[in-house]
Amino acid sequence: MTAPSFDRILRGGTVLLPWGEWAETDLGITAGRIASLAAPADAAGETIDLAGLTVLPGIIDPHVHFRDPGDGTVETLESGTRGAVLGGVTTIFDMPNTSPAIASAHTIALKADSVPGRAWCDVGFYVGATRANTPDLAGFEQHPGVAAIKVFAGSSTGDLMIEDDPGIEAVLRSGHRRVAFHSEDEYRLQARRNQFRLGDPYACHAEWRDPECAILATSRIVALAAKTGRAVHILHVSTAQEFAFLAEHRAEASVEVLVNHLSQAAPEVYERLGGYAVMNPPLRDQSHVDAAWAAVGDGRVDTIASDHAPHSRAAKERPWPTCASGLTGVQTLLPIMLNHASAGRITLPRLADAMAAGPARLYGLRNKGRIAVGFDADFTVVDLKARRRIENAAMASRCGWTPFDGLWVTGWPIMTVVRGRVVMRDGAVLGAPEGALVTFT
Ligand code: DOR
Ligand code: ZN
Repeated sequence: MTAPSFDRILRGGTVLLPWGEWAETDLGITAGRIASLAAPADAAGETIDLAGLTVLPGIIDPHVHFRDPGDGTVETLESGTRGAVLGGVTTIFDMPNTSPAIASAHTIALKADSVPGRAWCDVGFYVGATRANTPDLAGFEQHPGVAAIKVFAGSSTGDLMIEDDPGIEAVLRSGHRRVAFHSEDEYRLQARRNQFRLGDPYACHAEWRDPECAILATSRIVALAAKTGRAVHILHVSTAQEFAFLAEHRAEASVEVLVNHLSQAAPEVYERLGGYAVMNPPLRDQSHVDAAWAAVGDGRVDTIASDHAPHSRAAKERPWPTCASGLTGVQTLLPIMLNHASAGRITLPRLADAMAAGPARLYGLRNKGRIAVGFDADFTVVDLKARRRIENAAMASRCGWTPFDGLWVTGWPIMTVVRGRVVMRDGAVLGAPEGALVTFT
């Protein structure tokens, strides 16, 4: 019998298997898929030596804002996905609050058509819910590449918003897939806005958009999910109150946590970074950071994301509350999480569950999220011992800054493999942008 032949073999890495076991094994790749977890070493077109390195399933960032279509001076699909692969990310899901917003058959087609030839990693995208398009959402969520419908229940960047219960209920009754929510109560936001003044300290952002704002919206959305029988996904959960509440409502709601809400705390972060700490929902005090880690630790968190949201320096440096909300993060998502792993705050199997298998399972992503025969050959190869410094100058994002500038981390992505192609190695982006739209079950 002749040995099977592979297009490529990744040899000798320490590979994380889906059930949490480690295997020092060769990976055989054929036609972009994983063909073998024990490839014979003599049967490949190309062999890449990964001795001493750790192979994780391709990291999925299910929450980025690449501003495409929109302001290309801040970000584009090309620059955003370049940052993704430099950070070890193999798939991203892009948010719809672009200019124009992705909320119609025309803009959905525009978005899908913009991916071939411009993306370095694979891409899914959200469709924004509006009052006008609510009846069409059931059809929109079936369009190739669509990860989910996204509802802004409170105002943020852009003008997508449905803040009222009847409006949200109508969205939940149009379609079947899980609906993703930005959950902050718009009524409370508006009612308290005049308690603050132009030029107040940036830390007021967390006072204005307080924990009450978050739990009010989350409890309203979960009640509507129960009423309609439609599952919801609460994006960027950020308060101890929501984590406690959502633990009681796992059937109705799944949970996303952002790397930022695990990594930076008020008041220190506002004093140090000013407008570069402002995002929605806001960075909060250490008690909420601790609650987020507790939820990660006991399995209540389904996905960990970056919420990469670039803005120009000029927009970030305006006085509060006129400064733009949102922080970059797709390129630093994995390095920061590996650093947390190095410090013992999370195990690598848990990290891979929340950053690869979790998003794949939750959104119904086909053929991704695990290292198993037949799945896409998406791998994130990391050096767990590498000690590196995160720097503004290394960011691919056109806005040119990161809230983690100057931070030393332990653990770094060394290679990014998307459907069998090495697209990043040792900090160099390789080949051509051959990322494709992903498919969902
Ligand atoms: O801080 C944020 N920035 N939160 C959001 O919900 C949107 C994002 C953006 O697009 O800038
Ligand atoms: Zn976001």
